[in-house]
Amino acid sequence: MYDDHTDPFARVWGANLHFGYWESGVADAPIAEATERMTDELLARMSCSPGEHVLDVGCGVGVPALRLARTRHVRVTGISTSAPQVAQASARAEEAGLSDEVVFHCGDAMELDFTDDAFDAAWALESLHHMSDRVRALRELRRVVRPGGSLAVADFILTGPVHGPDRHTVEAFREGGGAHSLGTIEDYVADLRQAGLDVIEALDVSTQARPSLTKHAEVFRDERHRLVPTMGEREVDRMIRTLERLDEMPQAGYVLLSAQVP
Ligand SMILES: C[S@@+](CC[C@H](N)C(=O)[O-])C[C@H]1O[C@@H](n2cnc3c(N)ncnc32)[C@H](O)[C@@H]1O
Repeated sequence: MYDDHTDPFARVWGANLHFGYWESGVADAPIAEATERMTDELLARMSCSPGEHVLDVGCGVGVPALRLARTRHVRVTGISTSAPQVAQASARAEEAGLSDEVVFHCGDAMELDFTDDAFDAAWALESLHHMSDRVRALRELRRVVRPGGSLAVADFILTGPVHGPDRHTVEAFREGGGAHSLGTIEDYVADLRQAGLDVIEALDVSTQARPSLTKHAEVFRDERHRLVPTMGEREVDRMIRTLERLDEMPQAGYVLLSAQVP
């Protein structure tokens, strides 16, 4: 999905491939500002010191990793399952003059190609919902982050049970958006604990992230003509429909989590 859709998506949404954070719960700031703000909200939940090495799980095209490196003066290794994303992220690091500090590789979060305790901290910015086995990915993170190291996660959740036609919407999000691990905050916390992590904070920021759904649908509708040639009419319309329906579902939520390796 990301091999084919990253470029068209980034063209209309911006290269931060994640939801925005609007403090007021209404879209009173541009998308680019709100997506940077979401990165900053996650940054605020990361404990890492200058010179330390942080793993970025599901790095997209590298924008959050570069912000992390610049803000905290850390080294970052980003991984993604998408080779074109890794190539773009590496080019961005090069352009930013940070290619020694920030590197990107192809890799699968559920089977990390790193030794035990290789990192001081890790974050996953809107990537763990893609995991077919979230506990397995979290166990891998626990393994590669040293004892005492920090983990920060931003991700989609459902704030309650879903009934009737809304179940089809969630199914469409799973199928079309690759959202394989979708559940409540309690499910997330249970998965973190099952992976052996100490949970520090689980904050429901559904209200602050929700304008993203409206904005996403709006941008995709407005830019439909630019998206169709690369993504295809069927895919674009399916995406718009799913976003509009999710926007009508009060259970469509978002969480910020922080944890520590014991
Ligand atoms: C919604 S994007 C977020 C990208 C980036 N964190 C950002 O905020 O700009 C999800 C990312 O997760 C990556 N991803 C999906 N499944 C993965 C897996 N099994 N292992 C590693 N990365 C994965 C995708 O390639 C993509 O980069």
